[in-house]
Amino acid sequence: MAAAERFAAVSGFAKSCTREVGRLLAAAAAAKPQGGGAGGGTGAGGGGARLHRGLGAGARPVTVEQEMALAVHAHDVFADDPNVTVLAGDWRLLGPHAPFDVFFCDGGGKRDDPGLVVDLLAPGGILILDDFTPSTDWPPRFEGEADELRLCYLTHPALTATEVLTTPYASTVIAVRRD
Ligand SMILES: C[S@@+](CC[C@H](N)C(=O)[O-])C[C@H]1O[C@@H](n2cnc3c(N)ncnc32)[C@H](O)[C@@H]1O
Repeated sequence: MAAAERFAAVSGFAKSCTREVGRLLAAAAAAKPQGGGAGGGTGAGGGGARLHRGLGAGARPVTVEQEMALAVHAHDVFADDPNVTVLAGDWRLLGPHAPFDVFFCDGGGKRDDPGLVVDLLAPGGILILDDFTPSTDWPPRFEGEADELRLCYLTHPALTATEVLTTPYASTVIAVRRD
């Protein structure tokens, strides 16, 4: 985790998940000890490191990043655990490693293929999607319009889902695949 934070600071990578989301990831992963975890959009590795910590020893997490420089760095971040797989390329490379007990979908997929995102979850698998804008309306609204993307996950027939405020200004969808 320290290595990921150091790299983000040194490289100027500004899209790391917040510490609040990081704690949520670790808590969700801890509910699936030694489970299969995945992070789509590794970035500097912050979220992946928290997933890794939560899943515990013996887990075999997978993370994927499309920017080669970031993927190479992620290899270094996780170099001390041969059970961690770092993939370089599009998030769809996660497919052969599925199903996942915890999936932090944070780079590709969330918007372009929600169906596949849900398909990558194991039964009982937990999906985490951050960076939504808090809304007190139902359906939730974003920039004055119904937020169809958020609705898609909150009402998906295969999911039981909720949305939590991770800070006063940001919300996260947490969904569990029922079958
Ligand atoms: C918000 S940042 C990820 C932050 C990271 N998950 C964390 O917890 O700190 C999104 C990352 O997803 C990557 N990305 C965007 N589209 C992608 C895709 N289609 N496949 C793989 N990675 C993608 C970006 O290069 C960027 O590094």
